This record gives sequence, structure tokens and C-alpha cells, in this order.
Amino acid sequence: MIFPVVDLTNPIPYSDEIHDVLSSLNCIGTTVFFIDSIDDLSVLIEVRDRYHIRDYWIFPQREDTLDVRSLIKLLDDGATKVVLSLEFILKKLRIDDIPAERLVASLTLNSASPELTDASSERVSAYLIIPSTNYNNSSILSIFDSILDQVSVLIKHVQKHPLPSGGRKDVGMILPPSIKPELELIKQLSDLNGRFLVSVDALTLKEPDKTTKINIADAFTCSLTSDRADGLFTTVVVDEQGIALGLVYSSRESVREAIRTKKGVYQSRKRGLWYKGATSGAVQNLKSIDIDCDEDALRFVVEQLGSGFCHFNTNTCFGRYNGLKALEKTLQSRKVSAPPGSYTQKLFQKPDLLRSKIMEEADELCSATSKENIAWEAADLIYFALTKCIANDVTLADIEEQLNKRALKITRRPGNAKTQRDVTKPDGDNNDKNVLLNANNSTDSSDKQVDERASEKIGAEGIIKMQKYDLSEITPEKRSSLLLRPIIKSDEILERVRPIVDDVRKKGDVALLDLTAKYDGIRLQSPVLASPFPPELMSVDDATKSAIDQAFDNILKFHEAQYDRSTLVVSTMPGVTCYRFSRPIKSVGLYVPGGTAVLPSTALMLGIPAMVAGCKEIVLACPPRKDGSVAPEVLYVAHKVGATKVLLAGGAQAVAAMAYGTESVPKVDKICGPGNQYVTAAKMLTQNDSSAMISIDMPAGPSELLVIADESSVPAYVASDLLSQAEHGEDSQVVLVAVSLSLSQLEEIEKEIHKQASCLPRVGIVRQSIPKSFILNVANMSDALKFSNDYAPEHLILHVEDADSWVNEIDNAGSIFLGSYSPESCGDYASGTNHTLPTYGYARMYSGVNTQTFLKHMTAQKLTMDGLDKIGDTVMRLAEIEGLEAHRNAVAIRVKDIRNTN
Ligand SMILES: *[C@@H]1O[C@H](CO)[C@@H](O)[C@H](O)[C@H]1NC(C)=O
Ligand SMILES: *[C@@H]1O[C@H](CO)[C@@H](O)[C@H](O)[C@H]1NC(C)=O
Ligand SMILES: *[C@@H]1O[C@H](CO)[C@@H](O)[C@H](O)[C@H]1NC(C)=O
Ligand SMILES: *[C@@H]1O[C@H](CO)[C@@H](O)[C@H](O)[C@H]1NC(C)=O
Ligand SMILES: *[C@@H]1O[C@H](CO)[C@@H](O)[C@H](O)[C@H]1NC(C)=O
Ligand SMILES: *[C@@H]1O[C@H](CO)[C@@H](O)[C@H](O)[C@H]1NC(C)=O
Ligand SMILES: *[C@@H]1O[C@H](CO)[C@@H](O)[C@H](O)[C@H]1NC(C)=O
Repeated sequence: MIFPVVDLTNPIPYSDEIHDVLSSLNCIGTTVFFIDSIDDLSVLIEVRDRYHIRDYWIFPQREDTLDVRSLIKLLDDGATKVVLSLEFILKKLRIDDIPAERLVASLTLNSASPELTDASSERVSAYLIIPSTNYNNSSILSIFDSILDQVSVLIKHVQKHPLPSGGRKDVGMILPPSIKPELELIKQLSDLNGRFLVSVDALTLKEPDKTTKINIADAFTCSLTSDRADGLFTTVVVDEQGIALGLVYSSRESVREAIRTKKGVYQSRKRGLWYKGATSGAVQNLKSIDIDCDEDALRFVVEQLGSGFCHFNTNTCFGRYNGLKALEKTLQSRKVSAPPGSYTQKLFQKPDLLRSKIMEEADELCSATSKENIAWEAADLIYFALTKCIANDVTLADIEEQLNKRALKITRRPGNAKTQRDVTKPDGDNNDKNVLLNANNSTDSSDKQVDERASEKIGAEGIIKMQKYDLSEITPEKRSSLLLRPIIKSDEILERVRPIVDDVRKKGDVALLDLTAKYDGIRLQSPVLASPFPPELMSVDDATKSAIDQAFDNILKFHEAQYDRSTLVVSTMPGVTCYRFSRPIKSVGLYVPGGTAVLPSTALMLGIPAMVAGCKEIVLACPPRKDGSVAPEVLYVAHKVGATKVLLAGGAQAVAAMAYGTESVPKVDKICGPGNQYVTAAKMLTQNDSSAMISIDMPAGPSELLVIADESSVPAYVASDLLSQAEHGEDSQVVLVAVSLSLSQLEEIEKEIHKQASCLPRVGIVRQSIPKSFILNVANMSDALKFSNDYAPEHLILHVEDADSWVNEIDNAGSIFLGSYSPESCGDYASGTNHTLPTYGYARMYSGVNTQTFLKHMTAQKLTMDGLDKIGDTVMRLAEIEGLEAHRNAVAIRVKDIRNTN
């Protein structure tokens, strides 16, 4: 056995021979050594991917620039292990930075002492021995035997300490530069359980007698010994799932042929070299060859084509396939020749049908509880999932390859050097697997506890997950339906609200107090608190007070700036002057919801613009708590914004009271603020009633957020923003438009959503709102913005590179948040912008609440004698056309005088 080495610090001397050797590496069960400067991994990745190398170790040639993060990246990107100097491992890495299974220590033969290997025994899973450089050429051969002796002692010592997770530690050795890697040397070291590193340009696939290089198959088999009289090696043949197909024999020659042709080639005891399937067509593609632990038997992993391995035309010599493998085979054959009109054919032909089956079965699996039920539902789900895979030529082997890749990932908690084995997904996710593999030997018990808790939660309640679509896969109709908000059954709600509104209109305070008793569970003496409010009812702790004060100052500053107190004066023609100026709406009602949250922020957002505008009467309505009080935070804000009255009522009755006025509630001119469907319905009803003489800010629907995220986005931030919206209410609308994110990036976000959501106190609400929300993957920013503009979200967050540069292309959105560091929460509370924004798609034509909301504009004009003379004919002609003689006359009577005097 050897370790083939690809030295990437120099250009690879590509020749047909080297190309052939590189192409053969993936079908020998061997680890490839990459020597690299690791400044730029592009060559490594190119070679790896071009030759499908799955198992490789990286030996960085410089350690001064290495840190834990970059090492983890190498490993996460697919390296099985990374080789570092023993010194670096002991001094620069903490014990739980990188699992021992992923580290190899390099040491020079001189420095290799049993003490050192002891110190590193728990830290690494393999050693690489570098011969000392101070041998001279004449001496090296003579002392080589003693080098091997030293190495042998070391290997024995190393192997006294097996890996914690089981298995032997590998020991590799670099040959001194002046020594040619002869097969005999390779065998000598193999017999000591070590392996030489041999450069790929010293290897070949050619017959040994036709070259001076080493045949790679011979290097591979030289350590094998046979206990059979005929000298052959017992060989078990398995498929990619490890299912045994049959038992055969190999010789060194057949292995050479197998590697050269990359096919199943064996040694028949009667017929000599046996090219499996050469006559029947049931050939085998060689996936890998492994040597067993005693080095006397081989395992061939193959992809079996044609009817099967057995000469009786069954899949295996031990009978037919069953289970998953049988299902895969059946689906593969159905794909080629399903009976027309059959269910399977429909599934293959109708992605929508398949999609809905997968969704349906996934849902049923989540609801299943008994063992039998879960197995039943899981079988259903796997059936449809595999159908989707086979329809797209994805095999079980491809799925397993993904799982294996993921198992290599090391994830870390930010700002913490510990390795984290984070289990947020129960579904065979990478990290899950790590936990399973390490279950008996976890180095970090606290992590494990967290994991267990997360798993418990999942077990109990299922994953919190958004629906997922890809713009390129959905029909235009589906796209339109995604733009729709849930239907608000306004007729039904209007009918329930109408009697409440009528009641308050007719009976005033009596009705209001009754309704508050009925809906808020408290019978009040008076529905109104008038300013000045008693200090004891608005006492808040210092931290709250300073937070409210800071928010107040920012919001005030921004809204002050919006108020243009000057008068617009325009002379439209000589002698004709027009004016425009604003005046506050005298009396306004601000609705601050209570219900599931205390919302001083809404009081700020509504109260400050009203105060800045100069409204004389500010009535702030808020449903009372069970003890008849108002949250002190809200009352403190009411005080700061100069509210004249606080109305202790909520829902439709509060709106009605402010719209019509009661004995104790002043009638207002305009009602603003968010609220539930009843509040919204009451606002619409009263606005429609001309006897109420009331206007409202805007139609309202459930709060909503659309996030556009590209590759540069931080999954944890994106998830946190989505959740900050989703926790508002069960009907909250959350949309994530993903700009060409890879599957793994999306998974990362989904994982974060579940993980963060599971820790929220309002997880119950999130469990309702998140599954109704969706992720839409799109190809580019222009598709993303088009969707967003069509959706017209209340809040829009751009988690994209150069977020500011896209603002010009956003036509419809209530309020926009730019970049990773602008969460919606800041706009909701304290940055300055108001948070009372148009929802339900009304961002197309409405602005959010702002200072203008509480102002109206008036105009004035003044004409001089000269001016009237000049404009007179125009007005008279237009009045004449419209047949309004009195209008014409009002001008004519003056113009006549003016023109007579002139
Ligand atoms: C080469 O190494 C041998 C053994 O270490 C030593 O005896 C000899 O003097 C060296 N020769 C030279 C030229 O350095
Ligand atoms: C040893 O031999 C190699 C080639 O065989 C040569 O490149 C190198 O310079 C020699 N080293 C010494 C110290 O003579
Ligand atoms: C863990 O330990 C248990 C009991 O000792 C054993 O049955 C199981 O196979 C071990 N698992 C691993 C992954 O080592
Ligand atoms: C790993 O787990 C095995 C089985 O439970 C145990 O025998 C062994 O001592 C553990 N090793 C370490 C390093 O904890
Ligand atoms: C608004 O008023 C008109 C006329 O008074 C009436 O026909 C209509 O149904 C009202 N709409 C609502 C929502 O009450
Ligand atoms: C964006 O992607 C769509 C396909 O969904 C394509 O038609 C369009 O040309 C792309 N636009 C840009 C600017 O790349
Ligand atoms: C409310 O938000 C809109 C959109 O961000 C903004 O145009 C307006 O000025 C804001 N008004 C206030 C009072 O913050």
C-alpha cells in the first residue's frame, strides 16, 4: 500500500500516463495526498473534481498563515484530514478545535519520540514521518535499514494507542529524495504497517515489464498475502450500498486489469482472467477496491449493469434485492417503461402531482405517532422522494454520497473555538451523523445536551419550516397566487362589527363600558383617563425610560424634519398668486393595540407625528388590562406625546367611540393606527358613514415582511428577521426571496429558522405563521425586485450586496431596510421612521403614517386687477363651455369695469 501524492506546489507535469494514473485513483480505495501552498485552492479543487477524488488529505506547505477557521474550511470543503506539524497541533490548536479523526501530525524522524507521540495520541488520527534532511547521498542507502527500524518502533508505539472511535492510526512516510520507491521498499514498510508517499509521476498503469515506474495496482497489492494454495485472494463483490453481490477471487494480475479498465475483472479458478460481463453485457463499473484488515481479502465496490451479478440472472448470488435497493431498481425500470396511464408514469410526468404527494406524505409523517404508523408514513414519503430522485437520474448512491460529504462538515459556534455538533434537523442531516458517530466519545457534553434538547423538541412538535418554491419551476398562475394575501372575510367581519359600532353610536358610554366588560373582562367606572396622567400609573424602570426617551428623540427628529411649515407661494401668471400651507387636523384618535403584546412603540409612532403636526386633541385608545390599567410604558408615551385623553377601550368599540364621540370620549376627525380585523372593519364602517365625518390612515391587514437575500447574506441574520415578523401574529406574512442561493445555503437558513424559533417564547405563534410563509428561489436580483414590487410588502429587507444601489428600482414597499445591519426591529422601535405602514399590498398606493398624515393642506390665491384682466377670457370661455353662466358672470362683471376704465 502507498499514499499517492499530488504535489500542487509545482505545475503537474501532465502526460497521458499521469492523467491515467490520476483517473484511476478514485477506483482504488486509497487516500490521495495533496501537497499544497493552500494560498489558492483552485488547482486542488480542479484536480479533485476532475478526477473525482473523494478521500484526500491536505498537507499545507506553510503553517504561518494557518488558523482554525481556515483549517475547518479545508475540512468542510471535503478534505478527509489535514496534515500539520506536531508542534502546530500541540501549541496552536485547542483540543476541541478540530476532531482527532481529521488531523494528521507530521514529525521528523529525529524528533519522533514516544513522549511526543503520547502527547499527541488523543489529538490526531495519523502520523506522517519526514526523514531528516541531514543525510548525505552516499550514506543514505547504507543507513536506510536503520531508518526503517526506527520507523518500525514508532509505528508499533503509535498503534498501541488506537483511535478513540476505533480503528488503527495510519503512519505514512516520505521517502528521502535520493531513494527510488522500489516495490520491495513499499512492501517492507507495508509489512511494518506503514505506507510510503509516492508521487503520481512515479506511478503507472502499464504492465510492470514495460516500464521503470511502479504499477499502481502492484503498489496497492504488494502487502497482500494469500492463505490459499493457489495464491488467489478471496474477493467479495458488493454494490454501492454495500449489498453483497457474490464471492470471487482475485490475483495481482486481475487487480491490475481491474484498475486499468475500471471494470470488475477477477481471476477465475478455471478460466484465468475473468472480465465480468464481457459476454453477457452485465459489466461492472469499478467504484473502489478495499483491502481487509488482515490484508488477505479484497472487497470490490461496483455499479452492476445489466440483469445482475448472478449467472442465474438475479441481482445477487444470494437472491434478489429487497428494501430500498429493490425500490430503486423498480423505479428505474418503470422510468424507462412504465405502463401508459399507470400511476408511476403519472408521477414521472407530472412534477406538480409528485410535489403534492411529497408534501402530503411529509405532513402525514410529521403527524404519525405510533411506531407502526411512522414506519408506514415514512415508507410512503421515501417512495415519493425516491421517485423524484429517479425522475432526475439521482440514485441512492448519489444520496449516500451527499450524506457522506455532510458527515465531514465541522460546524462552529461563532466566537467560540469549540467544535459544535449542532443537531437541528432530525432527518439524517450531516451533523446528526457526527453525533451518532461520536455518541460514545463526545468531548463536549454541554453541546450534546443542547443537541438532545433540540432533538426532543423536534420529536415532540416537528420542524418549523417555510414552504419552498423555485421561480423557474412554478407557473405564472402559481406566482400570482403567491402574491396574494390570505383572504380576509370582510363581509362576515363587517356584519359582526356593525352592531357593535351602532351600539356605541346610540348608547355612548354605557355601551362602551358594557363592551369593555364583555371583551376585555373588566368593568370600568370611566372609559377615559384625562391628562395630566397620574405619575404612579406611568412609572417605568430607568432602562425602559431611557430606551423610550432615545426612541422618542429619534422619531421626533425625523418627523420634525418632515414638517414643512413654510407657505408655498407661486405666481402662475402676472397678477395671479397661489398659496399652499398646512394646518394640523384638530382632533385625532390613535389606536394602540393591546392584545398579545405591550406596544409603547406604536404609541410613539402615532403620537409623535400627531404632536409634531400640532393636533390639539390627541386621544390614544388602548385596551385595558384585566385590572383596568393601561401598560405604564404606553401611558408614559401618551404623556410624552402630549395626549389629551387615553381611552381605555379596544376593538371596534374604541373606534366607534372615537368616531362618533360619547359623553366622555371626544369625537375625533381622523383615526390612525394598526389593529386586528375588527378594528380595521370598524375603521372602514365609520369612514363610510358620512354622518361620522371621519377619515382613516389606511386600510390595514396582517403585518408582513419580504426579505431578499443573496449569497452574501448571513443565514442567521436572515432567519432572525423572518422570525421577528413571524412572531407578531399567527396571520403574519413572511416571504423570503432567495437570489440564486444554493441548496446548502437555503438549508443553512432553514436550519437557523428552526433553531432560533425553537428558543422563542412565542414559538407557538411562530409555529402557525412560519408554515404559511414561503421561500421563493429566483435567478437574479431583477426577478427578485420584480416579485417584491408586485407583492408590495409592508417591510422590505435587502440582505444583498450593495443594498443601497437597488433602492431606485423599488417601487412598492412601506419601508425598506438596507443591508445586514438594518433589521426591521430598528425601524419598528427607535431609528426614526414610523412603523405604521401599509399592508396587504396597499403599499402600491399608500404611504406609511407620517407627519403629513396628521396635517391637511389648504390653498389660497390673490389676483390683482391686471391679473384678472389677463386670465378673464380663459375662465369665461371655460365657464361658457360648461354652461355655468353665473361663473362666467362673476368674471365678466369685473372685467367689463376693468376694460372700460382702461
Ligand atoms: C555522510 O554521512 C555519513 C553518516 O552520517 C558520515 O559518516 C559522512 O562523513 C558524511 N559525508 C559527508 C561528505 O558529509
Ligand atoms: C543527492 O543526490 C541528488 C540526486 O541524486 C542531488 O540532486 C543532490 O544534490 C545530492 N545531495 C548532496 C548533498 O549531494
Ligand atoms: C457505543 O457504546 C455502546 C455500548 O458500549 C455500543 O453498543 C455502541 O456500538 C457504541 N457506538 C459507537 C458508535 O461506538
Ligand atoms: C470511547 O467510547 C468507548 C466505548 O464507550 C470507551 O470504551 C472509550 O473509553 C471511550 N474513549 C474515550 C477517549 O472516551
Ligand atoms: C358604504 O356606504 C354605502 C352607501 O351609504 C353603502 O352602500 C355601502 O354598503 C357601505 N359600505 C360599507 C362597507 O359599509
Ligand atoms: C434574470 O433571470 C431571468 C430568468 O429567470 C432572465 O430571463 C433574465 O434575463 C435575467 N435578468 C438579468 C438581468 O440577468
Ligand atoms: C413613515 O415611513 C415612510 C416610509 O418609510 C416615510 O416616508 C415617512 O416619512 C415615515 N413617517 C414617519 C413619521 O416616520
